[in-house]
Amino acid sequence: MAKDESIVTPYEVKGKLDYDKLIKEFGTEKINDALLKRIQKHTKELHFMLRRGVFFSHRDMNWLLNEFEKGNKFFLYTGRGPSGGTHIGHLMPWIFTKWLQDKFGVELWFQFTDDEKFMYKEDLTLERANKYARENALDVIALGFDPKKTHFLIDSENAGTMYPIAIKIAKKITFSTVKSAFGFTNEMNIGSIFYTAMQAVPAVLPSVLKGKNIPCLIPLGIDQDPHFRVARDVYEKLGFYKPAILHGKMMPGLKEGGKMSASDPNSTIYTTDTPKEVEEKIKKHAFSGGRGSLAEHRKYGGNPDIDVCFQWLQAFFEPDDKKLAKIYNDYKSGKLLTSELKDYTIKKINAFLKEHQAKREKAKKQLNKFIYKCC
Ligand code: TRP
Repeated sequence: MAKDESIVTPYEVKGKLDYDKLIKEFGTEKINDALLKRIQKHTKELHFMLRRGVFFSHRDMNWLLNEFEKGNKFFLYTGRGPSGGTHIGHLMPWIFTKWLQDKFGVELWFQFTDDEKFMYKEDLTLERANKYARENALDVIALGFDPKKTHFLIDSENAGTMYPIAIKIAKKITFSTVKSAFGFTNEMNIGSIFYTAMQAVPAVLPSVLKGKNIPCLIPLGIDQDPHFRVARDVYEKLGFYKPAILHGKMMPGLKEGGKMSASDPNSTIYTTDTPKEVEEKIKKHAFSGGRGSLAEHRKYGGNPDIDVCFQWLQAFFEPDDKKLAKIYNDYKSGKLLTSELKDYTIKKINAFLKEHQAKREKAKKQLNKFIYKCC
């Protein structure tokens, strides 16, 4: 792979992420000021993830807002592949989704793909993936989604509802299409090849259940876009709307480059980590934009643009624009040291996790209410 090359599919994120290039490659549209203004007309304020370009690209948002303005309400759809514990990178799009639910007053369908992770992970049993789904679901509930407006689909449990739609979709997708979209080889198991059809289902399930077409908006990390790129034409062929999509950036891991990965505990902060664990991971592993020595840092300043703590504050933990700008400038000028930036970030993360973990405990009693019960 050449130095500036990258691969972005749901199953592999490799190389340097160039988001403008992805917009071109995937054929999506950049979120511009006109669209931000249009969203703001309905939401009054703009979430900092929109203001700061954490959500940076879209498909068909203008169509979705046209429909909304005509009184045709949409629903939200997003999901989680339960391959392990939830980390803070996973929470990012969900927090944004919760904001959308509140501002537009709409329903959310949330898919937990234990089937997908079982198919794709050599050593993962279906029982374990299903257990992770129920664990991950607690993190979703803890973010405060409205139980009256939020429905969880766990693929292996809600399969009876989903399967008739999945096979209609699957019949219209060829092996060669998924092969080129995901880089599949002939050695893949046939469950993996079929899986996109399952991920496509929730975008139209409410339309099927209500017997009329309802617009759908999917906030997701851009690595998930290929599933929907493959499914888009099929939706139309089956007489449904194509869903609109908002694409988010990938949350960087603690180490230099790459996205946060659940399979490398040292690059990851889990929602169940203790304050001590958070402190140790950040102090030991967080890639910093600081200089080699204190004297050099004071003299030349640090580089917030490559500093993981700064990236996390920007994308997640420091919603206050003024405070963020001050941290940026102070770090760049050398006034703020790496150790101080790390301490600040540790404090922010631990304050968030303390509250989150308390809500996560309470969520255990609520889980059943959220899971979709057929008929
Ligand atoms: N495949 C996703 C993952 O591995 C889970 C998922 C299912 C999803 N449906 C989705 C993600 C819709 C975003 C939007 O995490």
